[in-house]
Amino acid sequence: MTGPDSTQLAGFKELLLARCGLCFEKEREVTLIRGLRERMASRGVGDSDVYHGLLTGDPEEFHRLVELLTVNETYFFREPDHLKLLVERLIPEIVEERPTGQVKIVSAGCSTGEEPYSIAILLRERYGADSGRLFAITGVDIDASAIERAKQGVYGKSSFRGGNPGLLARYFEPCGREEYRIRKEVGQDVTFEVVNLLGTVYPAAMQMPDIILYRNVSIYFPGQVQHAIFSRLAGLLTEGGYLLVSATETIHHDLGILSLVEKDSLFFYRKLPNLRIVDRRDRSRAAGTHRSGTSRPAAPAARSRGGTAGPGHVPPTPPAGQRTASVAVSDVHALFDGALGKARDNRPDAALELLDTLIGRDGSFVKAHTLKGSILLNTSRFDEARAACTRALASDPLCLEAALMLGIIARHEEDGDEALRRFREAIYLDPSCWLAHFHTAEIVFMRGDRKRARGGYEAALRILESGPPGDRERAFFPLVFKTDQFLAICRHKLALIKDQGK
Ligand SMILES: C[S@@+](CC[C@H](N)C(=O)[O-])C[C@H]1O[C@@H](n2cnc3c(N)ncnc32)[C@H](O)[C@@H]1O
Repeated sequence: MTGPDSTQLAGFKELLLARCGLCFEKEREVTLIRGLRERMASRGVGDSDVYHGLLTGDPEEFHRLVELLTVNETYFFREPDHLKLLVERLIPEIVEERPTGQVKIVSAGCSTGEEPYSIAILLRERYGADSGRLFAITGVDIDASAIERAKQGVYGKSSFRGGNPGLLARYFEPCGREEYRIRKEVGQDVTFEVVNLLGTVYPAAMQMPDIILYRNVSIYFPGQVQHAIFSRLAGLLTEGGYLLVSATETIHHDLGILSLVEKDSLFFYRKLPNLRIVDRRDRSRAAGTHRSGTSRPAAPAARSRGGTAGPGHVPPTPPAGQRTASVAVSDVHALFDGALGKARDNRPDAALELLDTLIGRDGSFVKAHTLKGSILLNTSRFDEARAACTRALASDPLCLEAALMLGIIARHEEDGDEALRRFREAIYLDPSCWLAHFHTAEIVFMRGDRKRARGGYEAALRILESGPPGDRERAFFPLVFKTDQFLAICRHKLALIKDQGK
């Protein structure tokens, strides 16, 4: 049997990425090769192309391979502060507000079940036997063998390394050598299903949950997959519902999809009514900085280099009845307003259709490209979003919003250098662009450059704290960001940096 060559390996990687989001680049490549060898040997297949064909046509075989490739690392009461917050504060609030009906909790990527059982145990501690009636807890995972083990509910020592021996004694009974079985009543509180989070359909048990735990799952996904799954999970949540990722993953999901909330120094996401797209035309017009079709604030650099009739300029509205050579400005504005309305109504496809019509009539209308870019960015269509931003920059090389979005796209794609370059550009165009300072700080913080990170967080904080609070929800058209969460993160990170410097 020969192992896959690099072209064949690329084919397997592509398949696994497309079907379940798993990425096997760099050091993870050896895991894939090992898994392929094992499955090919057990199926008696010597040729990689033959096995690829088998894999694409046989879902059972695909599952067997995936089981070998997933990282199932988990244990009871992992990240206990989050669980405590959940069970002592967030859930009681929901129970109080909703006297009838069950509180629905989903553990997405639950592995062998320790996470959902931990919650069931903590809820039993607080609500006693009532918890079976009050809560519906579901654990889902792509790995069928992990789900089977979760259903059996038998655990060895390593599952209990998170401590809590008292709870172990109360909720488990010994079975076999150094193994413990979850007691029947707790076992009955949790149901399990095999679900691919990147699959097309989610089961009923996952619909409209109040709480989703999605911890330590996305670390294995590339940026686009992280965004796509997070968006879908966010879409499932009830209004006011919570989504928790692990502490190290939190920042990566601050994509403007859910609001980042802080309680007791813990960060988590919440589905709150959240207007993400506004039209700042009127505001910038009032400020006297408007160039039709652009929305850059009055940055000194932009003004000195851009002039008032740059390539993004749309001519003034002609006298009534008179049309410009190709298109009436009022048509373009009407199309733009229509597209903005649809985007605000959360109808991205309809908005994109109008924008394409607009762009077909006047390709130099910069705001059409930036609005298009932001809609595509929100729907994780990164390549198309990049193309829209590039078009905006072609019409207006000083387009702040395009530079920002390209930075955000590069961050999603984990291209830190490109992201830093774009954010630097944005700061050059508008030194008060707090969002660019913030993202720069986040990237350099992750790289361990605490000094530079501190400068970035301080700059973002200074800008956000200056000016009246109402003005803080400052937008970089057409992106709008709730600034409270950014303020909280900046303060939190600055405190961390200070502590580490001691
Ligand atoms: C490291 S475990 C996390 C377990 C638990 N949430 C925790 O924090 O302890 C990650 C789990 O994500 C699952 N997973 C990976 N890709 C998935 C996908 N596309 N759909 C569903 N589950 C997936 C893996 O099978 C694995 O069991």
